[in-house]
Amino acid sequence: MDPVKKYVQEQKDRFVKELAGFLRIPSVSAKSERREACRQAADFLLQELGRLGFSTSLHETPGHPIVTASRMDDPAQPTVLIYGHYDVQPEEPLDLWTSPPFEPRIVNGNLYARGASDDKGQLYAHIKAVETLIRTEGKLPVNVTFLLEGEEEIASTHLEAFIEENREILQGDVAVISDSSQYGPGMPAICYGLRGICADEIRVQGANRDLHSGSYGGAVPNPCNVLCEIIAKLKDETGRIQIPGFYEDVLELEAWEREAFAALAGDDEDFRRQLGVAGLHGEEGYTTLERKWARPTLDVNGLFGGYSGEGAKTIIPAWAGAKITMRLVPNQQPDKIRHLFREYVRRVAPAYVTVSFVDHSGGGPVRIPRDAPFMNTAVQALEYGFGRKPVFIREGGSIPVVSTLERKLGLKTLLLGFGLPDDNAHAPDEKFSLADYERGILTSARFLQLCAKTAGAETR
Ligand code: BES
Ligand code: MN
Ligand code: MN
Repeated sequence: MDPVKKYVQEQKDRFVKELAGFLRIPSVSAKSERREACRQAADFLLQELGRLGFSTSLHETPGHPIVTASRMDDPAQPTVLIYGHYDVQPEEPLDLWTSPPFEPRIVNGNLYARGASDDKGQLYAHIKAVETLIRTEGKLPVNVTFLLEGEEEIASTHLEAFIEENREILQGDVAVISDSSQYGPGMPAICYGLRGICADEIRVQGANRDLHSGSYGGAVPNPCNVLCEIIAKLKDETGRIQIPGFYEDVLELEAWEREAFAALAGDDEDFRRQLGVAGLHGEEGYTTLERKWARPTLDVNGLFGGYSGEGAKTIIPAWAGAKITMRLVPNQQPDKIRHLFREYVRRVAPAYVTVSFVDHSGGGPVRIPRDAPFMNTAVQALEYGFGRKPVFIREGGSIPVVSTLERKLGLKTLLLGFGLPDDNAHAPDEKFSLADYERGILTSARFLQLCAKTAGAETR
């Protein structure tokens, strides 16, 4: 048996225990009361990478700290930048979890905990891979820098400035991120496209206080009604977004891509039934995969204002609000879209209310070319780890750092998803299959080995 496989076999119980220790830290970036937990998660990574002989630093930001760690074992070899996020989504709704979200449990070969798949388990697979290589070979076959942040789930607010100010320590030949999923069980995937995101909030202000809807109703504007009218104008019945210029920079799907998507497509009726929804709905003229992976969206994530408690309350609310996200596709830019969105909302809003906005940040869309550096190496590594050649997919989610690495450092990212589509990311009973954890470790170790230049051989 090769030494990497042997080591992983021997150590896997400890690898699981140590991941469970990481998962016990409730590092929810969105909650201010979890600030200390986020620091603890950063510290956990710092300690572990320090023990593995990495030069580590903890970088303070106005938000949660960023951890960098690097081992430059051979300057003649390429450098791989591995990114991951130690922050996790809020655990609510708590009552829908089978066991508590921060008390990891193994059931049927799956490790259940918030962050198990997104992204602690996947990022930790890379750490266990470097451990494996260091312990079996005495050193790493290539140079490795880890970039680990704690604000991905809140749009990587402070990461771009950090990357800009720390270009030198982040130099590399390629970036690797495992924060997506396989296409299905036993179907490893390389994700070559992610949607970007622009998150904004609309506030509609009416009178300076809630009013009796009998005494005042009919004579003053109702912000809840007005907000609904505004939202109704954002899209037409066919699902087309009505903001002028919104589609201007959209890169249309190419014929080969539509064919490739069609070949991967599952059954829409199955999909509908699994979700328990009465009918699927999306932009006319596009298939489900095209809608999810390659078309922009505009969605209301939350709508609030007025009274929504028990029973009835007869008021004209003083204000109303809506949280909105637009998923973007290449080559749309979050800043430009935010500007167009606000301009349009201001234009359609009646003059008898006051409209304001809250910027909830965003991230750019990406598309990674098939001929990116080390792409073929990644294909071979996944084949080694998962026993099957990966398929090429896109994803509808967003990882803001990918576009930042491209824009600020000229780095291309290989997105090697170790998770599964049904890992319940962001939802109750999040899980990560222990088999996938192990396959991820093997894939990462193999990838680093194959990235090394051997005298006279072409390894790409
Ligand atoms: N790991 C996800 C991104 C992802 C989701 C990739 C699905 C592939 C498939 C990431 O942690 C995430 O949730 N990102 C947020 C970003 C947002 C908060 C800026 C997202 O997509 O909503
Ligand atoms: Mn993630
Ligand atoms: Mn996430």
